[in-house]
Amino acid sequence: MSEHLTVVDHPLVQHKLTLMRDKGTSTAGFRRLLREITQLLAYEITREMPLTTTTIDTPMEEMEAPILAGKKLALVSILRAGNGMLDGVLELIPSARVGFVGLYRDEETLQPVQYYFKAPESLKDRLVIAVDPMLATGNSSAAAIDLLKEAGANNIRFLCLLAAPEGVARMKEAHPDVPIVTASLDRELNEKGYIMPGLGDAGDRMFGTK
Ligand code: URA
Repeated sequence: MSEHLTVVDHPLVQHKLTLMRDKGTSTAGFRRLLREITQLLAYEITREMPLTTTTIDTPMEEMEAPILAGKKLALVSILRAGNGMLDGVLELIPSARVGFVGLYRDEETLQPVQYYFKAPESLKDRLVIAVDPMLATGNSSAAAIDLLKEAGANNIRFLCLLAAPEGVARMKEAHPDVPIVTASLDRELNEKGYIMPGLGDAGDRMFGTK
């Protein structure tokens, strides 16, 4: 992917995103829409996955047919909201390996601190897709990518639903080699770090918490 940021402006993505932003959308509806949009975004982020060929027999004749090459993809959820994007990608790529990164923000230093990390074996040479619906300040996303690189990942992409300009800039500074795919680049962060116009707290909306 040559672009650092790709905004997927497909009408289906934009329509579903509007439904997700609407505060009247139910928890069940929000979850379903997130799964559906994630699949459409995953289509874009996996567009350049390498192919090889294999020999198969169709009912008509033998053919050399395209098939995905290389190690299985690794999908990494940034807890907790990233979990809402797992199922959509796994429906498309059922053989993907799955990892989790948990980070919280230290109230004194305001820096992200790791509380959980579990990644698939040999991240090196796998396509690694980190998922988190909201790229806000970018601090936890950049820290999560640091951890993945320390674990050997060298081909990482970041998939989110909404991005703030501040988060995109932070990621570009920390990880210019990690392309970002999103459904929207929103206007700004507010003073509490929420994306505007945004959709509120993605975790609360998908899990029905407050
Ligand atoms: N995380 C969210 O869930 N929402 C925001 O707007 C920003 C970060």
